Amino acid sequence: MPMDLPLSKLVSDDGSHVHRKIFTDPALYELEKQHIFSKTWIYMGHESQIPKVGDFITSFIAETPVIVSRAGDKEIYVTINSCSHRGVPVCRADQGNTRRFVCPYHSWTFNNKGDLVSIPQERKVCNKPDKAELGLKRVPRVETYKGLIFACMDENVEPLTDFLGEMAWYLDCFFDRFDGGIEVIGSPHKWTINCNWKLPVENHLGDIGHGPYLHGSILQGTPQVQELEDTGLNVVPKPGHGLSVRLMPEGTPDEMCMFGMDGVAGMDPEVNQYLRESHKKVTERLGEVRSRLKPLCYSVFPNLSFLWPNMTLRTSHPRGPGQIEYWSWFVIEKNAPEHIKEKLKIHYTMMFGPGGLLEGEDAEAWSQQFSGSNIDYADDRTYYYGLGLDEEESHPEIPGKVGSCFNEHYAREFYLQWRQRLEQGIQETSKLEIK
Ligand code: FES
Ligand code: FE
Repeated sequence: MPMDLPLSKLVSDDGSHVHRKIFTDPALYELEKQHIFSKTWIYMGHESQIPKVGDFITSFIAETPVIVSRAGDKEIYVTINSCSHRGVPVCRADQGNTRRFVCPYHSWTFNNKGDLVSIPQERKVCNKPDKAELGLKRVPRVETYKGLIFACMDENVEPLTDFLGEMAWYLDCFFDRFDGGIEVIGSPHKWTINCNWKLPVENHLGDIGHGPYLHGSILQGTPQVQELEDTGLNVVPKPGHGLSVRLMPEGTPDEMCMFGMDGVAGMDPEVNQYLRESHKKVTERLGEVRSRLKPLCYSVFPNLSFLWPNMTLRTSHPRGPGQIEYWSWFVIEKNAPEHIKEKLKIHYTMMFGPGGLLEGEDAEAWSQQFSGSNIDYADDRTYYYGLGLDEEESHPEIPGKVGSCFNEHYAREFYLQWRQRLEQGIQETSKLEIK
C-alpha cells in the first residue's frame, strides 16, 4: 500500500476527510485502473454518433484505447484498439464508417466485431493460424441507457440500470426529455489538463459553491446565483453519482423552469423562445415535479459528467495521476432547428470549450489543486469535505439523499465509493493470490 497508509486513513469513514495523496500517488493510480476502471461501467459515447452499420468512434477505458462500432447485426461492439499481431492500433481515426479495420503494420484485417478476417502473409506459409483465436480483444459487456453507451471489462458486472440506480431518473430529465431524442454534434473537443482525473468529476458532482467566487467576474451578483441559493440542492441518487439541481417551487411559471442558460451572457431571444417551446411537453413526458427541475451538473461514477445549462457531456480520461485528456461533446435535442443548434453550440464553446470562459477558470483551479496536493513538506492533515455533514436527507419530491447546494455529501459519497471499490478489489486479488 502506498505511503503505508491504509485506505481508511486516505478517506475517513464518513468521507469528511480526504488525504491529498489520493490525487497524486502513482501506486494508488495503478490500483484505480485495476480495481475501478476495469470493474465499472465506463461511458463510451452516444448512439447518435454511430447510427448506421459500419459507423464507429474511438474511446478509452482509463488509458486503454477502444473502438466502439455498429456491426452488421446492428449491435454495438467494443474492442481493444490494439492489433493481435504486434499491438499497433488498427483504427487511427476518431470516428467514421468502415467495414474493416486494417492494421497499418502488416495489414491484418478485422471486421466491426473485432474478428480477424484476413492475414495477407498467410498465403506464403504452410501452417495456417487459427483466425478465430486472433481477433481483437472484445470488451465483454456493452449496454446502453437512453442512447448513452457504456462498456465494462468485467463480465460479471451488475446490469447498467442497477449501476445507475436513481441516477436514471435524473438522466431522463435531459436524455428522455424530447420526443425525437437528443444527438451529439460532431467530434469531441479534446485537451489535456495537468490534474488528477477525479478533480473535474468532483467539480461536476455538485461543487456549485465555487461558482460566484472562481467565476465571480461572470456570475457574481447575477439572478442565477440568487436563484441557486434559494432553490439549489445537491443530490446523491446513489453513492458515487451526484448532481446539482434547482427545484423550483410549485406554481412557478414555465418560463422560470425551462432549461438552458436563460438570460446569461446575453442569450439570443430566439434561443430563449426555443427553450420555452421545448419546455412545453416536459410535464407530459416526465411529470410535474421534473418540469420544475432545473439541473446544473451531473457526474456518473467514475468519470462521466454532464453540464446542463450548456448541454455538454464530458469524460475525464486519466493519463497518469497528474494528467487527463478531457473530452467534451455538445449535445442537443435532435429535432431542434439547425440554426438554434448552431447558436447553442457557439454558446457552449464560448463557455465550456477548451478555451471557454468558465472552462478555463475551472481547468486552472484543477491543475493548481493537483500541484498543491503534490508539494513537498505539506503536512499530513487531510482535506476537509465536511460541509453540511449529516444534514442530507430524503426529499418528499425527488429521489436520493438531498442536501443544500453547499452540502459536500456528493464528494463524501464519491470518495467513499472510491475507497470501497479499492478495498473490495484488493481483498479479492489477495484471495486469488492465496488460492
Ligand atoms: Fe498489426 Fe502486424 S502489428 S498486422
Ligand atoms: Fe466552474
